[in-house]
Amino acid sequence: MKKNMFPLMLLLGLVSGIVAWPIDEFNVFNYGASGFGEVDDSKAFVNAWRDACNVGTHDARVIVPKGTFLLNPLMFVGPCNPQIIRFVIFGKIIAPGEPEAWNGRDSSQWIAFKNVTGLNLYGSGLIDGHGMRWWDQSCRYHPELEGCTKLAPTIFKFISCKESTLRDIHLVNSPQTHVLIQYSNGFNVDNVTIQSPEHSPNTDGIHIHSSHFVKITNSIIGTGDDCISIGDYISNIDIADIHCGPGHGISIGSLGKNREVVHVEHIHIRDSTLKGTSNGARIKTWQGGQGNVRNITFENLEFDAVKNPIIIDQNYCDVRGRCKEEETGVKISDVIYKHLYGTSSTKIAINLNCSKSVPCSRITMDNINLVSVQQGYPVTANCTNAKGTEVEVNPGPCLRN
Ligand SMILES: *[C@@H]1O[C@H](CO)[C@@H](O)[C@H](O)[C@H]1NC(C)=O
Ligand SMILES: *[C@@H]1O[C@H](CO)[C@@H](O)[C@H](O)[C@H]1NC(C)=O
Ligand SMILES: *[C@@H]1O[C@H](CO)[C@@H](O)[C@H](O)[C@H]1NC(C)=O
Ligand SMILES: *[C@@H]1O[C@H](CO)[C@@H](O)[C@H](O)[C@H]1NC(C)=O
Ligand SMILES: *[C@@H]1O[C@H](CO)[C@@H](O)[C@H](O)[C@H]1NC(C)=O
Repeated sequence: MKKNMFPLMLLLGLVSGIVAWPIDEFNVFNYGASGFGEVDDSKAFVNAWRDACNVGTHDARVIVPKGTFLLNPLMFVGPCNPQIIRFVIFGKIIAPGEPEAWNGRDSSQWIAFKNVTGLNLYGSGLIDGHGMRWWDQSCRYHPELEGCTKLAPTIFKFISCKESTLRDIHLVNSPQTHVLIQYSNGFNVDNVTIQSPEHSPNTDGIHIHSSHFVKITNSIIGTGDDCISIGDYISNIDIADIHCGPGHGISIGSLGKNREVVHVEHIHIRDSTLKGTSNGARIKTWQGGQGNVRNITFENLEFDAVKNPIIIDQNYCDVRGRCKEEETGVKISDVIYKHLYGTSSTKIAINLNCSKSVPCSRITMDNINLVSVQQGYPVTANCTNAKGTEVEVNPGPCLRN
């Protein structure tokens, strides 16, 4: 052996030593991803996930480097071995542009995470749902179209995920909802940007359903539907520092369709701005539902040219006039509106339209100041079957004791 080979062998020995240690990084390029955005890279992603999910370390990460990755519909399934599983996206992930790519598959989802604990999805990456073709055939805007679609894919579904986080990512152009959080406990969304055109159909920013202890903070959301919508079986939701608009606003409901029993409580929506949206602080329920919406606080919200800044619609109906008056309704109580201000783009700035059979009760309004977006025009507060107390409310008074 030549004398000068010794350092090289030492180096090789060291390298193989390192390789023998548990690897906890799973880069999709090492699994054959192309990164050019023209061929389907799903297999590489699924395999990188499989290895990350099964590795014996405490912490594992799937890395999506810079590049463009075309993914067909796919699901990342847990439970995983590592207590923390990071999914770090630096590149751009794109959906197939054609709805036909979903033929024979569940058209409600594109990328789904299921039954994962300790998922951390983040990075400076962009996720593009390429929704245009879906929007063009949606029943919402093209009901006359034969074979129009009611159900189009959600960009990210998080189903039964615990103690998980989504942050920093930029999501655009979802065929339908952008982010769905369902059957999840302890889920944080922070610093995300969600954008779709104002006229894209049913493109909710974030929809939460059957979940508890969810936090959504520091995010910018502008879409063709609700920025954030809250469905049934929900408790302990904290929503703060959201810039919402365009879109339909931040909405609790619609709830109680088909006589469902509603359990929605302990929700705090605060420190946010709504700009050019159709609703601001909204609760909507169908007649005939049952159960409760209670302990809801809307606090420090600024409205800029919002159509219905403060609204409860307990007579919600998808087609006006089609739903008849019913004996039962979802009970709405303990709702606090505190320090809400700004401009309304319609005459009725406060509209609490509660049902006769189950009135809204223990409503508190404190320090509300809403004026018309057109200077000099008056705005009104219209309350029906709504009881509670109010201080410093303009326009007002409105509630009954
Ligand atoms: C979900 O994960 C838990 C462990 O976290 C496991 O016990 C359960 O069987 C999993 N459920 C499904 C449907 O895979
Ligand atoms: C928010 O996300 C953006 C885009 O990924 C990133 O550049 C920025 O550093 C993040 N901000 C914080 C406070 O984490
Ligand atoms: C009301 O909800 C908040 C969370 O928004 C929670 O901290 C508080 O304990 C709840 N109050 C009651 C009386 O349950
Ligand atoms: C309240 O709801 C009823 C039933 O949908 C509707 O006819 C009425 O115009 C609403 N009132 C206001 C002030 O919006
Ligand atoms: C709203 O209230 C105003 C009075 O404040 C009233 O003139 C108007 O008719 C009401 N509008 C509806 C739709 O109930």
